[in-house]
Amino acid sequence: MDFRPGLEGVIAVQTNLSSIDGENGRLIFRGYRADELARKHVFEEVVHLLWYGGLPVKNELENLKKQLHEARKLPEDIVRIIDELPEDMEMMAVLRTCISALKAKPEWPPTLEEAVRITAVIPTILAYRYRSLHHLEFVPPNHQLDHVANYLYMLTGKKPKDAHVRVMNAYFVLTAEHGMNAATFTSRVIASTESDLFSAVTGAIGAMKGPLHGGAPTGVISMLNKIETVEDTEDWLRKKLNNKEKLMGFGHRVYKTNDPRAEALRDVTESLSADDDWFLLARHVEDTAIRLLEEYKSGRRLYTNVEFYAAAVFKAVDLPEILYTPTFTASRAAGWCAHVLEQAENNRIFRPLSEYVGPGSMIKENTQRG
Ligand code: ACO
Repeated sequence: MDFRPGLEGVIAVQTNLSSIDGENGRLIFRGYRADELARKHVFEEVVHLLWYGGLPVKNELENLKKQLHEARKLPEDIVRIIDELPEDMEMMAVLRTCISALKAKPEWPPTLEEAVRITAVIPTILAYRYRSLHHLEFVPPNHQLDHVANYLYMLTGKKPKDAHVRVMNAYFVLTAEHGMNAATFTSRVIASTESDLFSAVTGAIGAMKGPLHGGAPTGVISMLNKIETVEDTEDWLRKKLNNKEKLMGFGHRVYKTNDPRAEALRDVTESLSADDDWFLLARHVEDTAIRLLEEYKSGRRLYTNVEFYAAAVFKAVDLPEILYTPTFTASRAAGWCAHVLEQAENNRIFRPLSEYVGPGSMIKENTQRG
C-alpha cells in the first residue's frame, strides 16, 4: 500500500453532504450549487439542507429558526468560564473551551438538538467574549433577527445594514461545508470512536485554528496591510516568493482552478465595496499574485482560495480581526455537525496504518543495496 503524505488523494469517507470538483471549480451541497445557494438562500435554509437532506418549506424553516433562537442563550456556567479565562487567551481557544463545557452528559448517537445547540450558541459566545474584552455590556440575542444578522447585532449592539447581512450571509452559506478538510476530518475521526458531538466539534475547532486552515484570512489582511499600495505589490510579493514563503489566500489541496467560493465572495463584496481603495488593492494583489505564482511555481496551478475573499468580506462589514477565524468556525460548525450525524448513522472507527521508518527500518534496503 502507498504512503500518501497528508492523505492526499485518499477517499476517507462517503458522504451525501457535498461534492467538490476541484478540476472545474464546482462545489455542490446535496445537489445544489453552493454559489447559487449563497445568492438565494439564508444560512438557516442551508443548515436545514445539510442536516435534514432538503431545503425547508416555510413551516420547517420557521421551526428551525425558532429552535436556533431558543438555543442562543448563554448558560450561566459558560458565562462564568469565559469570565475566568485569561484576557490574552486566543478567541479560538476560548471557543474550544466553551464548546467542550457546553453539555455535561452528551449523547451517543448525537442528536439534532445538540447540533442546534452548538450552531446557535457559537455566535453568542464570540459576541459575549468580544464585548467583555472591550468592557462593553453584553447584547443579548434579538429574536427578530436571523442567525447571521443576529451575530452582527450582538457584536455591535446595532441592527446591521441589509448589505452587510447579505455579504455575511453569502459567506456563512459558502463556508458551511467543504468535504474532508482537516477540521471536518478531525470531527469525524473523533465521532468514529462513539465519543460525542461536543468532543468532535471541540477537536475540529483545534484543527481549524491553524494558519494553514482557518487562520488564513488574518494572514491575508496582514499581507494587504503590509503591501499598502498598488505600486508596492509586485516587489513585495516577489520578496516573499524569493524567501520561499507562502502567499496567504492562494493555493488549495483540492481546487486546481478558481475556488468557486472565492469567486462568489468576490462578486458579493464587489457589490458593496467596488470603489474602496482596499478592495481595489485586493484585486490588484490577486491578479499580480496569480501571475507570479505561475512564474515561480509553474505547473502547481495555484489560484485564489476562499480565505482571500473571506478577508474582503470581513473588511467590508468591519469585522474585528480577532473574529476572523472564529467567524469561519461559526459557519463551519453546521457542517461539522452534519458530518458527525452522518458518521454516526453508519459508523466504522478510523484506524489507518503507519509505516515504520525509524532505526532498523533501513537494514533491509541497505542490505539489498550492498
Ligand atoms: N504561495 C506560494 N507557494 C505555494 C502556495 C502559496 N500560497 N501554496 C502552495 N504553494 C507551493 C508549495 O510551496 C509547493 O511548491 P513546491 O512544489 O515547489 O514544493 C506547491 O505549491 C504545492 O504546495 P503544497 O503545500 O504541497 O500544497 P498543499 O495541497 O499541501 O497545500 C495549502 C494547500 C495548505 C492550502 C497551501 O496552498 C497553502 O499553504 N496556502 C496558503 C495558506 C492558505 O491560504 N490557506 C487557506 C486554505 S483554504 C482553507 O483552509 C479553508
